[in-house]
Amino acid sequence: MTENTRRDFLKQAALGTAAFLAYPTARALGANDRVRVGMIGVGNRGQDLLKEVMAVPNTQLVAIADVYSRRHDEAKQLAPGISTFDDHRRLLDMKDIDAVIVASPLHTHARHFLDTLAAGKDLYSEKTLTWSIPEAEQCTAAAKASSRVVQIGLQWESSGALADARKWIKDGMVGKVTQVNSWMSRNTPHGKGQWVRAVPSDCTPQNVNWSAFLNGRPDRPFDPYRLINWRLFWEFSGGNVTENAVHQFAWIMSALDLPLPTAAYMSGGVFSEKDGREVPDTIAITLDFPNDLVVTWQSTFSNSHYELGEHVLGSDGTIEHTWGESDMTTAESGERVRYFPEKVNRSHGAAVLGKAPAQDHMGNWIDCVRSRKTPNAPVEIGYRSAVAVHMANLAFRQKQRVTLDMAKATKPDF
Ligand SMILES: NC(=O)c1ccc[n+]([C@@H]2O[C@H](COP(=O)([O-])OP(=O)(O)OC[C@H]3O[C@@H](n4cnc5c(N)ncnc54)[C@H](O)[C@@H]3O)[C@@H](O)[C@H]2O)c1
Repeated sequence: MTENTRRDFLKQAALGTAAFLAYPTARALGANDRVRVGMIGVGNRGQDLLKEVMAVPNTQLVAIADVYSRRHDEAKQLAPGISTFDDHRRLLDMKDIDAVIVASPLHTHARHFLDTLAAGKDLYSEKTLTWSIPEAEQCTAAAKASSRVVQIGLQWESSGALADARKWIKDGMVGKVTQVNSWMSRNTPHGKGQWVRAVPSDCTPQNVNWSAFLNGRPDRPFDPYRLINWRLFWEFSGGNVTENAVHQFAWIMSALDLPLPTAAYMSGGVFSEKDGREVPDTIAITLDFPNDLVVTWQSTFSNSHYELGEHVLGSDGTIEHTWGESDMTTAESGERVRYFPEKVNRSHGAAVLGKAPAQDHMGNWIDCVRSRKTPNAPVEIGYRSAVAVHMANLAFRQKQRVTLDMAKATKPDF
């Protein structure tokens, strides 16, 4: 496919999906009604979410759609009696489904998002909202034009740590924040690449709806490696920036109530995982925000010592949010949020350990499906975090500083 035909195709695909946005009215649920759920994409993450939704009281998993028959069998093991489809549109045709969870690869999120809303179902859609900025705009507009309840799979939006950080910031304990530094790091044994998954022997053309997986990407013979390892390639993925930075940018943007970044810079490359992947394993991002703020994010796949976290640096105090890094004195590990006063400006301030309880992100969505309230991670934080990560990836791929205007004017490509 030439560059031009590919662009035309992307444009037509976007228009084609937009053309049938006519939101039917779904059944009104009473406070005690059972919520009937369908799922699109039931791989690794999808099977976790399947277990989560089945654990929510008075909720029933009715059907799943996945392009790979192995996932049908795995889902049936977890939820016997469900219907299974290899085309998500058959699932959306089911009148007795109220709400749909999407955990498909990134390049299919926009299609599944728009089709689910068009079918009149409420939606839980995994992060990152979409593969590109134009798709993010289209999905946000569609969500706003519908009355559907939309939760994005940014589960840190339901964390107690976010509630604590917001309160400390609102109460003026942090002062003026000019910098937030964040990081995320992982490691694997020598010879084993981060994210690389073995291709099961039953992953054959007979068992996979290959054209549905491609979802408009240039046609080619069946390629099981790309189906299973879609994360490693730009045409399906945004790499670790859309996989993980998005969680942390959403958390930071929510804590500080930030608008979209004004500019992004990103350096790095494929330095440790030289296995043919396209997306970088080593990354340093800088985002500029209005009103004197810089946010950084660093990531590596060949050292996990500091795991992940954020440092919010204010004139009057510091917020330290860490996950996994163990405390040498207490031997505790896991998520922790702490506040430390800047003694020069808060001489009587004391350190505080965050204690707010986390909410169940899936349970919050189901509650909102019944109450019609706005869930903890609505489409707008999905949009803001998606634009931020796509600006960073564009800066990396264009090898230059990318402003918000430049990013919005860039046609998606891979
Ligand atoms: N919120 C989190 O913490 C979190 C964690 C992991 C993954 N995720 C997200 O979940 C999504 C899935 O990731 P994963 O690791 O489960 O990937 P995966 O490859 O294990 O699962 C994706 C599934 O979607 C199926 N699929 C592919 N194209 C499809 C289509 N057109 N229609 C229906 N099914 C299709 C595949 O066969 C596969 O079973 C990604 O967006 C990822 O970013 C979120």
